[in-house]
Amino acid sequence: MNIILLGPPGSGKGTQAKNITSEYGYVQLSTGDMLRKEYCSDSKIGLELKALMDGGNLVSDEIVIGIVEERIFQNGITTGFMLDGFPRNKAQAKKLDAMLAGKNEHINMVIRLLVDDEVVVRRIAGRRFHLKSGRSYHVEFNPPEISGKDDLTGDYLVQRADDNEEVVQSRLDIYREQTEPLVKYYEEKNVLVSIDGIGTPDEIFARIKTALEQ
Ligand code: AP5
Ligand code: MG
Repeated sequence: MNIILLGPPGSGKGTQAKNITSEYGYVQLSTGDMLRKEYCSDSKIGLELKALMDGGNLVSDEIVIGIVEERIFQNGITTGFMLDGFPRNKAQAKKLDAMLAGKNEHINMVIRLLVDDEVVVRRIAGRRFHLKSGRSYHVEFNPPEISGKDDLTGDYLVQRADDNEEVVQSRLDIYREQTEPLVKYYEEKNVLVSIDGIGTPDEIFARIKTALEQ
């Protein structure tokens, strides 16, 4: 199975991707996590990425497509993959289709998480993040075992620079403008499944499992 997780910032893509990986073994490819790793370096490109991402703006298609192409095709993924945060506009979606077609592969399912803007803002305000792995927690809804520390490594958790209210609003606007048109794009390909993204992470995962196993 090759899957896309589609949804606004804070809709739970990263949270559910971790669940899907542990249950089904599909490899999570989060362009946000990959870019954040890149921007931790002090290189020129690292600093450019940091400026764009901290302000909630999209990184250029060229950079993102290059990263995805390398990760999907050069690492020999055999179990199937799950794209989290990619594609984010039509140009990226078309390029992805072309890349996959060239390898006799395609997208089997696009899982769209439906969440209201107010919920997004509350989730993002309380999010704490493990930078190296991309694991996300929430101070109230999904707290780590030890406050402020990652469950697996014990590393300190951080707050993402783009997780403040002003930047979140602009990320939501960009989502509506550039990414939401992909709903129609994938509906027309008959691969879109919309999942109610409100509820506990376990409830939402149960809905996703039902969709995946149908
Ligand atoms: P990216 O990292 O992809 O961020 P995003 O799409 O804005 O999504 P988030 O990671 O913020 O949210 P999520 O849906 O993963 O939610 P999570 O599970 O953490 O992208 C960041 C930036 O990178 C972009 O702005 C752009 O600059 C760049 N970029 C990335 N991809 C790109 C591309 N393709 N093209 C160009 N630029 C690109 O959950 C959120 C919080 O809620 C957590 O605290 C979690 O614990 C909690 N939570 C989750 N589920 C529940 C629940 N059911 N109930 C209560 N709390 C919950
Ligand atoms: Mg995420």
